[in-house]
Amino acid sequence: MKILVTGGAGYIGSHTVVELQNAGYDVVVVDNLCNSSEKSIERIFQITKKKVKFFKVDILDKEALSKIFDSEHFDCVIHFAGLKAVGESVKQPWRYYHNNICGTLTLLEVMESHNVKNIIFSSSATVYGNPATVPITEECPKGQCTNPYGWTKYMLEQILTDIQNADKSWNVVLLRYFNPIGAHQSGLIGEDPNGIPNNLMPYITQVAVGKQKELGVFGNTYNTPDGTGVRDYIHVVDLAKGHVKALQKIKENSGLSIYNLGTGKGYSVLEIVNTFQKVNDVKIPYSIKPKRDGDIAICYSSAEKAKKELGWKAEHGIEDMCRDAWNWQKNNPNGFKS
Ligand code: NAD
Ligand code: WQD
Repeated sequence: MKILVTGGAGYIGSHTVVELQNAGYDVVVVDNLCNSSEKSIERIFQITKKKVKFFKVDILDKEALSKIFDSEHFDCVIHFAGLKAVGESVKQPWRYYHNNICGTLTLLEVMESHNVKNIIFSSSATVYGNPATVPITEECPKGQCTNPYGWTKYMLEQILTDIQNADKSWNVVLLRYFNPIGAHQSGLIGEDPNGIPNNLMPYITQVAVGKQKELGVFGNTYNTPDGTGVRDYIHVVDLAKGHVKALQKIKENSGLSIYNLGTGKGYSVLEIVNTFQKVNDVKIPYSIKPKRDGDIAICYSSAEKAKKELGWKAEHGIEDMCRDAWNWQKNNPNGFKS
């Protein structure tokens, strides 16, 4: 089977390409490198010893995308390409809606015109908004998103659902990721944010490597055991393997399927900080800061549906996640720029 991976040079995409190649799939990557480096493609080769066919193309460029579809016969598209910084999306909504919505619509048009009607889409737990109860199952109602980035995921889920509803020959898998962290065990690929990191783990690793002075912990008065926010952190390699399993649904022609990809367990900010310090024997200075706008207290998944229907479950715990995140950062203090 030949798979097109959009956004395959990025954090989750690169790890997924590795797992797809390890599972014997033929992989083609399209990425405009707006938030990634071509070095990740070279590193994938170092890991798998298999060449990745790479096109530096923007998914908004219909003509260039069509040419690729003319020359390759894809069985399925795994669609990661998109902008993902929550705070930036509040400041630049037009850019986020244009890139994520128009980009995906362009991709879908090209897929349709080449009779490629199988897609696995990177959605997010953000579509649940502030959940009424935890663990969050796939049946929980979607909520009010708090930022344009979240709305792009919400809207794209709806667009893909409507397309599949109108034409049953489409197979659509919506994967709702919880909080991906960690890196490939080789230390060759990992998360490489531009500028000051917004997310917890890359911030911690940058404190550990001396690029940031201290971690700000956003609030310690939430209704959680230690007062700090609780999330369902998932090792990026487990997440990547979830995509390989999701291909099974495509092969079975299952129409529309929706899965949470999480571990089913929640950890607080301080639990992550303490585990990171313990397993890596490094100090992470931190201070308590005001709550961050739009943050919720607790978010963790029910991972039962993916376990039952895909035979997938996360294998790595937070110790592995902390160890692998640090292994990547300390070997690549400047990410792919080093
Ligand atoms: P990332 O930024 O590392 O990867 C996204 C890739 O898409 C980048 O390589 C970027 O260059 C590329 N890209 C963006 N716009 C493009 C365009 N118009 N044309 C071609 N390429 C384009 O992000 P990631 O963390 O790997 O996330 C992958 C996907 O998963 C995204 O859709 C993201 O919204 C989603 N997601 C991420 C998280 C997370 O916490 N990392 C959680 C839930 C969902
Ligand atoms: C985790 C916890 C923070 C940074 C985001 C997106 C979500 C999804 C995953 C894409 C929270 C706390 C963080 C820091 C801190 N992405 N924190 N200090 O907000 O759960 O989810 O990424 O779909 O849509 O919103 O992840 O890593 O930013 O925060 O205390 O410097 O760490 O308050 O409790 P979040 P995060």
